[in-house]
Amino acid sequence: MPSRRILLLNGPNLNLLGSREPAIYGSATLADHVANVEAACAGLGWAVQHLQSNSEAELVGAIHAARGSADGIIINPGAFTHYSWAIHDALAAFDGPVIEVHLSQPLSRESWRHTSVVAPVAIGTIAGFGGVGYALAVEALSRHFAAAKTL
Ligand code: DQA
Repeated sequence: MPSRRILLLNGPNLNLLGSREPAIYGSATLADHVANVEAACAGLGWAVQHLQSNSEAELVGAIHAARGSADGIIINPGAFTHYSWAIHDALAAFDGPVIEVHLSQPLSRESWRHTSVVAPVAIGTIAGFGGVGYALAVEALSRHFAAAKTL
């Protein structure tokens, strides 16, 4: 039985990774990133459930379903980052830690990317490290859970 259950969410257009603007997002596919998260979690004895969706409603539904069934959420909300108060509210209703991940560094891009409505409901944001960010998010969750135990 896994000691932790992690929900990995990827938002709109991230299904195109590998061929979408590789100069910004890199050449790895979403499947590559998911496999890296699964490997990192397996090393910790954790289970991962992954959903990529281009639909805000589907992502909100997955966050609702995580209530009581997942211990933490790693989310790259894609462009929803910048305006989806529905995803913000759903994450606010989730009890466990949320980590926001971006492959690129939105703060060094267009000004409309400088606002994240997800950041206020995340324990932290990892951005600008490409695909490594997903593995860093697993590491951050691991340290967060370990620190919570010693409190
Ligand atoms: C992104 C950054 C967002 O601004 C953009 O809309 C994406 C990807 C990233 O991973 O860098 O779709 O979340």
